[in-house]
Amino acid sequence: MTHAVDVPQYPMPRNVERCPFDPAEKLFEIQRVDGLRRVRIWDGTQPWLVTRHADVRAVMASPHVSADTDNPAYPHSSAAIKARRARAKTFFTEDGAAHDIPRRALARDFTAKRMQGMREVVQTVTDQCIDEMLAGPKPTDLVEALALPVPSVMICELLGVPYHEHDRFQVLTKVFTAATSTAQDTVAAAEEMLEMIAVVIDGKMDNPTDDTLSRLVVEQLIPGHMTNEEIARMGLLLLTAGHETSANMIALGTAALLSNPAQAALIRNSDDPAVVAGAVEELLRYLTIVHSGARRVAIDDFEIAGTEIHAGDGLILDFGTANRDTAAFTSNGHGEPDDLDISRPARHHLAFSFGVHQCLGQQLARVELQVVYSTLLKRIPTLALAEPLENLEYKTDMSIYGLHRLPVTW
Ligand code: HEM
Repeated sequence: MTHAVDVPQYPMPRNVERCPFDPAEKLFEIQRVDGLRRVRIWDGTQPWLVTRHADVRAVMASPHVSADTDNPAYPHSSAAIKARRARAKTFFTEDGAAHDIPRRALARDFTAKRMQGMREVVQTVTDQCIDEMLAGPKPTDLVEALALPVPSVMICELLGVPYHEHDRFQVLTKVFTAATSTAQDTVAAAEEMLEMIAVVIDGKMDNPTDDTLSRLVVEQLIPGHMTNEEIARMGLLLLTAGHETSANMIALGTAALLSNPAQAALIRNSDDPAVVAGAVEELLRYLTIVHSGARRVAIDDFEIAGTEIHAGDGLILDFGTANRDTAAFTSNGHGEPDDLDISRPARHHLAFSFGVHQCLGQQLARVELQVVYSTLLKRIPTLALAEPLENLEYKTDMSIYGLHRLPVTW
């Protein structure tokens, strides 16, 4: 029998003072020594932690694992997230047809081509935010001024949710992603958001416009393929998934660039879109904001890297460590995986996951990040952190890593 002391607790605290962008030291030790091993989580269960790039991909591509949160052995991230998932289940936590059919119903609104078409809107929104920031006092908080509004406007625009409702959505999304929220708080937040979206959906019945919710009403609700409640749950998934994630990448990525001035200069001084696109992939890899692991459960016995996994074992895929794996990101003339090097070919990172559940909104996120980083650095060449990196407030206690505030000056 394994002694409790041999099984480390997960998640593991980062050493923010040493480097706020690096995963916990202990995770690298697991990656080096075992690759995968049992960890203990909040409810006392002991799922497997998978830390190597090749192993994470193998698990995510395996037909022997399930994303179904109703499976009693599913290793939830917290009591609150477990309660919220039970209330607002979507294709995100389903397998097979229950995942594929609703995902397909949405996918055509999120193609690379459609998202490239949104580039101009992203540029306009970004420029407006920067104009307002420059006209206001300094130092200012970049999270409020730019990181939150750009993805908020974009996802509201895409879905067809009135933007004046975004303040309330933002507050409720925070409740959602805070690991400290109680189960009761998160379920109440979910109920309120679902109600708000249901009202928007009702409005689209008589007045469909050119947006995702309208299309779902016309193609799914009216012919009876989906109910208002099912569409509202999808809308909730998109609003929350499309909002905190990009916002945290904007703020944390800006902090990383401002503390690596030579890398920031490469973006500022280049007119080549491929340079910015490469920088975004590298920042996604280096920062990996989905930092408390994707969760799965084994539904058959199978083997990963010589370890027997049994049906009913929980699995946690640690993208952050996998994205620093020297086996996948050899320096090869570039920096070590622990360095930020925007010229590194990093497109095979796992920041958007891998396999059938790979991020649906990744093309939107890419366009947002490309526009925001390059516009910010070019329009404000003197942009600088207004407080030292180690004094900033990091979201160590949230399921998506990032910054609560980013004070900047110029
Ligand atoms: C930098 C920004 C983003 C990051 C790092 C990110 C990351 C992720 C990751 C890691 C997953 C998969 C989790 C798993 O395998 O269990 C995922 C799934 C998903 N993401 Fe994102 N995401 C981002 C932005 C967005 C945006 C902008 C949207 C929507 C507009 C979005 C919508 C979704 C959806 C719907 C899924 C579920 C896909 C499925 O289960 O088939 N994400 N995202």
